[in-house]
Amino acid sequence: MRPSGLSPSFPPVPRAISCANGPPVSWEKAQEAPRRPLNRDVARQLISVTAVVGARPNFVKMAPMLEEAGRRTSFQCRLIHTGQHYSPEMSATFFDELGMPAPDVNLEIGSGSHTEQTAGVMIRLEMELNERRPDLVLVVGDVNSTVAAALVASKLGIPVAHVEAGLRSFDRRMPEETNRLVTDVLSDYLFASEPSGVANLLAEGIPKEKIFLVGNVMIDTLMKFREQAAHNGILDRLGLNGKDYAVATLHRPSNVDGMEHLASLLSMLSELSRRLPVVFPVHPRTRERMRSAGVSERGLILTEPLGYLEFLRLTSEARLVLTDSGGIQEETTILRVPCLTMRENTERPITIEQGTNRLVGTDPREILRAALDTLDAPPRFLPPPKFWDGKASARILDVLERSLADR
Ligand code: UD1
Repeated sequence: MRPSGLSPSFPPVPRAISCANGPPVSWEKAQEAPRRPLNRDVARQLISVTAVVGARPNFVKMAPMLEEAGRRTSFQCRLIHTGQHYSPEMSATFFDELGMPAPDVNLEIGSGSHTEQTAGVMIRLEMELNERRPDLVLVVGDVNSTVAAALVASKLGIPVAHVEAGLRSFDRRMPEETNRLVTDVLSDYLFASEPSGVANLLAEGIPKEKIFLVGNVMIDTLMKFREQAAHNGILDRLGLNGKDYAVATLHRPSNVDGMEHLASLLSMLSELSRRLPVVFPVHPRTRERMRSAGVSERGLILTEPLGYLEFLRLTSEARLVLTDSGGIQEETTILRVPCLTMRENTERPITIEQGTNRLVGTDPREILRAALDTLDAPPRFLPPPKFWDGKASARILDVLERSLADR
């Protein structure tokens, strides 16, 4: 059943979704309305959801939705891991730390070209979905596994819900931008984390009835684990306790695939480490490039990819974060840690308007200058973006429950 088929016997879908003219209406109104229990006959027929994850940030986004679905009696979830990320530190560690159920199926797709990964997921997932025929396929983010799952489900006529819909860098050189555009055009429920997502989708002609501004599921996870992360021993392990330090991450192909550019970014970070220690957890893609180019990382504190709790603790206490990641721009906004994004654009503009994020481009001299300036004059802290409050998953499950209960 598509979202337009809402049952009149259930509370109408909150007005937060009516975002055609002007800014989206607040969810707070919807939350004031008492939640009516589901009709018993309907409740007996469970809503079957197949959730698909593949890469590290997917796990962080899916975990709170699975937990929320588990709290409700109306959902039956099946978790498919495509195997896009497979190293223990990129996958199993996150499942353990986030308390996620083990995947029901692992498609074991592994690494490969974009076509190999996407097509591999499609072929294997088609068998799974044909066998199970769920009521909904739930996908998150913008990785190859996301678009592959949306394509398969859409072609089988199974409704798709996309969480983190509508984000746009307007840079088609980024593989993620293609993934976002295709996933959104195929989705039946588009859950946006920030107003720009809603505006982008409307501008692309997506019907407003499909769009729901719900907030940020990654922040749900951050809020849940922040306290636990505070007890993590990573700072002692790296000899950083009580010290000012910066954290850097790099994994975008545009920053790490060109040897010269990668070398110049690393030497810029080495230069910065003369002012304060710089911790650099190295993504496998970056590690491979560093190895094959033999580039120097003088003065940096290098680590393997860190687990969720370690990284959360590390960034929480940092004086500065330099990154080309999408999610870290959002997390630092809530942690109130200055973030310099080493890219020419961001698909998450709210982190600049209302967060601590600043786009500094990819020229090493400019990045270094911005880093030193930021250490001398940290940005002003503003209130967090609206709906980044730890309740995004509940809003999403509310919408799906009301809409799919009468399928
Ligand atoms: C992928 C996503 C990117 C996301 C990132 C988060 C796409 C197009 N890209 O990029 O949007 O920000 O995940 O990390 O989907 N590797 C391992 N172990 C693993 C996984 C990968 O060693 O568990 C190595 C392999 O050499 C692989 C390379 O890392 O070839 C890149 O992995 P891949 O999944 O292709 O892309 P990411 O750069 O991780």
